[in-house]
Amino acid sequence: MSTRGAWSSKLGFILAGAGSAIGLGAIWRFPYYTGDNGGAIFVFVFLIFCFFIGYPVMIAELTLGRFTQKNPVGMFNRLSGGKKLWKGIGGLCVVNGFTIFSWYSVIAGFIIGYLYKTASGAFNTQLTNEAVDSIFSTFTSNAVNVVGLHFLIVFCTGFVVYRGVKGGIEMLSKWLMPVLFFLLVVLAIRSVTLEGAGEGLRFYMYPDFSKVSGIMVLKAMGQALFSLSLGMGTMITYGSYLSKKENVPASAAWITFFEILVCILAGFVILPAVAAMGQSYAQGPDLIFKVLPSIFAAIPGGYFFGVGFFILVVIAALTSTVSILEVPVAYFVDERKWSRRKSVLFVASIAWLIGTPAALAFGASDFLTNLPGIEWSFFDIMSTVFGEASLSVGAFFIAIFTAYIWGIRKAITDIESEGNKFPIGKIWGFLLKYIAPFTIIIVFIYTVWSIFAG
Ligand code: PFF
Repeated sequence: MSTRGAWSSKLGFILAGAGSAIGLGAIWRFPYYTGDNGGAIFVFVFLIFCFFIGYPVMIAELTLGRFTQKNPVGMFNRLSGGKKLWKGIGGLCVVNGFTIFSWYSVIAGFIIGYLYKTASGAFNTQLTNEAVDSIFSTFTSNAVNVVGLHFLIVFCTGFVVYRGVKGGIEMLSKWLMPVLFFLLVVLAIRSVTLEGAGEGLRFYMYPDFSKVSGIMVLKAMGQALFSLSLGMGTMITYGSYLSKKENVPASAAWITFFEILVCILAGFVILPAVAAMGQSYAQGPDLIFKVLPSIFAAIPGGYFFGVGFFILVVIAALTSTVSILEVPVAYFVDERKWSRRKSVLFVASIAWLIGTPAALAFGASDFLTNLPGIEWSFFDIMSTVFGEASLSVGAFFIAIFTAYIWGIRKAITDIESEGNKFPIGKIWGFLLKYIAPFTIIIVFIYTVWSIFAG
């Protein structure tokens, strides 16, 4: 156990878990998904998925990890008695670790680029929307920029993960999460008080039920899993460093609560400002890069807010990338008996290679930006297949495994060990057995059907 590392305290664990959850998913992806998918109705469906699927699956993942003290492959192997299917699902978690890490670091690299731009005064004055657009496209079409920054993030993440659980991951989260939260509140207040923000607030807060569609529901489900770091074994791995003393449902509730809070706040920062600047909500992954500079320009002392904000987002992204990288690394350390150093080097190099075409898919390569025959970029494919679909598959199997293979009773016994209480144990069992897996399947089938039915 001692060589695997462990969390130093309950607070340290909650902050590291929240650090994993809170990242680009909340600050970059949630606002643009909300913008792309009809506003408030998307938020509403997202919240339902967080409560009824995300929270129960998080308790399951943490418990599976804590009980076995293993990475996802080792955990499935042990609790299934070595069954191939389940080891394969553990393998899917490890593959997700490689792939999600690779594209996620691309966006984290963009944030560093924007930190530099803000610090060098590029957004000190109010710019036209066209000027902001052109700053973004000039930046992302420079291959050296995007690939180099991607490398920087992969390198920094590798360094933190190499330092291990307590010294690296936990310390980073403990200090910086509260500051990030404070800055988001200040920016949200500024954004909602901009002239013309009202229309954005309406878009964000009044659901339009005519916008419900299969794709929108799938996106909301994917976003709930992604932002809570579920479906790829991150919480299994983090749970494996957790002691029996801790109350899993309570820790999971805090992590879920913080994550939702940051998502909602990020929406209040971005969407009212989109309306105030007369921009379009549906700009996809570029959204925050085109909106934030205008907010900073409109704030007294905006230069400092801008620089501070991007520094914190880089850190929020790093506390998430380390949790993603930790999954494949824990696999190689536990199952293959590799050293931590070799595992980090191997996984980080592969992830950098896979991420490179994703980094070039924002204009640096025409081919990767507009893949022939489909309207998608290489980045869109990576982030949808591995940031959404594969997480839903993972979460489905984790729910089925806990409910039907390991068993709700054994899980509850472990959760309640050392005198911990789990008053909603029965409801949890019900959600995990009947609601989570079947909802995931139904949403999948409905989406495929709605795509084919046009
Ligand atoms: N939850 C992180 C975010 O929202 O930025 C991303 C993430 C981390 C996804 C860990 C999946 C994961 F296992």
